[in-house]
Amino acid sequence: MNVHESEKVAGILEEMGYRACLEGEKADIIVFNTCCIRDTAERRALGNIGVVKAEKKENPNLIIAVIGCMPQQEGVAETLKNRYPYVDIVLGTRNIAMLKDEIEKVLKSRSNIKKKSDKKYRCFDRSLPDNYLDIDEATPQSRTSYPNAWVNIIYGCNNFCTYCIVPYVRARELSREMSSVLDEVKKCVEDGYKEITLLGQNVNSYGNDIVDDSVNFANLLKKVDEIEGDFRVRFMTSHPKDLSDEVISVMANSRHICHNLHLPVQAGSNKVLRDMNRRYTREHYLELIAKLRKAMPDIGITTDIMVGFPTETEEDFEETMDLVREVRYSNAFTFIYSPRKGTPAAKMEQIPYAVKQARIEKLIALQNSITKEISNDYIGGVYRVLCEDMAGKHNGMVCGRTESGRLVTFPGENEDIGKFFDIEITEARSASLFCKKKV
Ligand code: 5AD
Ligand code: SF4
Repeated sequence: MNVHESEKVAGILEEMGYRACLEGEKADIIVFNTCCIRDTAERRALGNIGVVKAEKKENPNLIIAVIGCMPQQEGVAETLKNRYPYVDIVLGTRNIAMLKDEIEKVLKSRSNIKKKSDKKYRCFDRSLPDNYLDIDEATPQSRTSYPNAWVNIIYGCNNFCTYCIVPYVRARELSREMSSVLDEVKKCVEDGYKEITLLGQNVNSYGNDIVDDSVNFANLLKKVDEIEGDFRVRFMTSHPKDLSDEVISVMANSRHICHNLHLPVQAGSNKVLRDMNRRYTREHYLELIAKLRKAMPDIGITTDIMVGFPTETEEDFEETMDLVREVRYSNAFTFIYSPRKGTPAAKMEQIPYAVKQARIEKLIALQNSITKEISNDYIGGVYRVLCEDMAGKHNGMVCGRTESGRLVTFPGENEDIGKFFDIEITEARSASLFCKKKV
């Protein structure tokens, strides 16, 4: 989501005549697009904003903007205003389109400074405009992830999981018109993008805020699948309480939708799931996994898991470990619970950090061993892989993903990016698969 929003920032800046810096060049504008999902993300953002103080001293004409989730929180815009006097523009999650006007106002105010006492213009706006969808549809975007294209389908979240700050900083759910989403996907396919990822905090809620009952996620997927062309579709994130049988059936019978699903479980104990306000049980979740595997035996399933939620006991944690053994995820994103100000869980009694650390280490070790076993099963098989990028350190090698979402490194050139290949897997190293020679 943040990468895609940064593409919109790039679009706004390019329309104003700016371009991305080349290596070694000094920037005229630095925009920090921030996240506040965990304390570490927030601290990193503040640390990075601190670092540019010296740049601003060297170049007083530099414009510094801080946007996104972090300043949307109560009080953070004020902190930035007072403690970071060199920050010129602060915008929240639903008013980044104001960036153009605000940059122009800052530039104008600077040219008007005659005496020392003249104040420079600074902007601190975190409003949530009612006509956000119209504004967003008109915001230019400069895609940076070819051959992947991100397409937002729904903004915000209504779920209020007790640990999560997202509903507070991204406001209530707001679905885009189905026709706008379909037009955008068609345009991406026409422009040569090969993998479209539909985005939303909870894609399964798509259309709930639109009166027409036919506007729902399953129907959107069906319509996207009807678009002609050689491309793939993925989507994230799905909430287990809302993943319907219909969506599973559309996925299984589609032409373009990858058999790959990110289905965050968060915890394996019913007590913790209840305290997290996740509104599903371990049994319901496992039933979903069984249905998905029955409909698509080749599906790759990934998840998010949190350890150290305030009410998690050692027994609860062991239930999470058992669930991980049972589901056998191809990969899992694991997090230590981090209290977020203003959320209900932050007010509960917390468990010691050392306990959380010990739990996450056990969980990571377990998932790594499962990931490795699953990777080994790929050896000798031939898989369709979309070449997505050069493979950093490996000379003459490129990388891409199987339909199930596994990363494969194989021989190739820059020109191969954006093409599909049938790749025989010859080697597996934990989460990465390798091929010595293309078929
Ligand atoms: N602490 C740790 N992890 C969190 N997540 C959300 N809120 C928190 C928090 N307060 C994790 C969840 C979610 C992922 C995007 O981030 O696992 O699925
Ligand atoms: Fe946060 Fe829960 Fe909404 Fe996901 S569904 S963004 S975890 S509140």
